Amino acid sequence: MAMIRPLSEALTGTTIDRDRASSVLEVNNLELRFGGTRAIDGVSFDVKRSELFAIIGPNGAGKTSIFNCLSGVYRPQKGTLHFLGTDLLGLRPDDIAGRGIARMFQNIELFDNLTVLDNLMLGRHLHIGYGTPAALLYRGRAKREELANRRIVEDIVDFLEIEAFRKFPVGMLPYGVKKRVELGRALAMEPKLLLLDEPVAGMNVEETEDMARFILDIRAELDMTMIMVEHDMGLVMDLADRILAVDFGRPLALGTPREVQSDPAVIKAYLGESDEGPTLEEAAAEAGRDA
Ligand SMILES: Nc1ncnc2c1ncn2[C@@H]1O[C@H](COP(=O)(O)OP(=O)(O)OP(=O)(O)O)[C@@H](O)[C@H]1O
Ligand SMILES: [Mg+2]
Repeated sequence: MAMIRPLSEALTGTTIDRDRASSVLEVNNLELRFGGTRAIDGVSFDVKRSELFAIIGPNGAGKTSIFNCLSGVYRPQKGTLHFLGTDLLGLRPDDIAGRGIARMFQNIELFDNLTVLDNLMLGRHLHIGYGTPAALLYRGRAKREELANRRIVEDIVDFLEIEAFRKFPVGMLPYGVKKRVELGRALAMEPKLLLLDEPVAGMNVEETEDMARFILDIRAELDMTMIMVEHDMGLVMDLADRILAVDFGRPLALGTPREVQSDPAVIKAYLGESDEGPTLEEAAAEAGRDA
């Protein structure tokens, strides 16, 4: 049987020399408007090193918009964003990705006609960022880098248990596997912060359990800092260290799963009223159905 190197050894760039209590990300008083719509309205939070931070809220609450601000797709009108001490405002998406923020999208964004391996290799190239002229000048070095990239990609394939699909075009794969490839593509970029936008949306119970296991493994093996947006409240409550709840762009609560789960404002946002009724998990499942 082939020896599999631990993924943490392969992905050397993921280690951050900072103590655990320090913040990887600091978001202050963020505000984003589209015409009259306030998609984000005064949101502040920080994410500690190795933390699994979750953002929850009903449909249209502004969760994806927060990710879009973090990855440079949207430019907020107000507020500050600092990632490992760097001001992110005004940086381009590829620059932000190069600094170590990778993302798994709410709607899968892979190249359907390319194989699993090629999609993952694209993640590597985003990380390395060498262009054609460099490849011509340093043919030897480029070749060595290419081999190193292939090894890392194969490690990721092993880690995510998608060996059987390596050479398949992504378009042919079942939904749950595609989501795993998307996670792999993000990992291939050796991020220091991983953004997961609804990683288990549309998955069956088995696929959800698999994804939850991979998220936990990424955390345990790579010591990865993550922000997860998710409607599956059971998953959020089980996995997250802290949770930020938002509604209509505004922050409702920030705290441990236990604190946020019992927060009256959070329950009200999901139920529309604070009367006795379904639990937060039931209400969130209902809200997530039309996501
Ligand atoms: N590019 C855009 N142009 C105009 N309005 C936008 C744009 N992007 C987001 N919005 C609006 O901002 C608000 C927040 O949207 P966002 O996608 O961030 O919500 P969300 O919390 O991710 O919702 P869901 O759970 O359905 O994914 C919504 O009212 C949405 O219509
Ligand atoms: Mg969204």
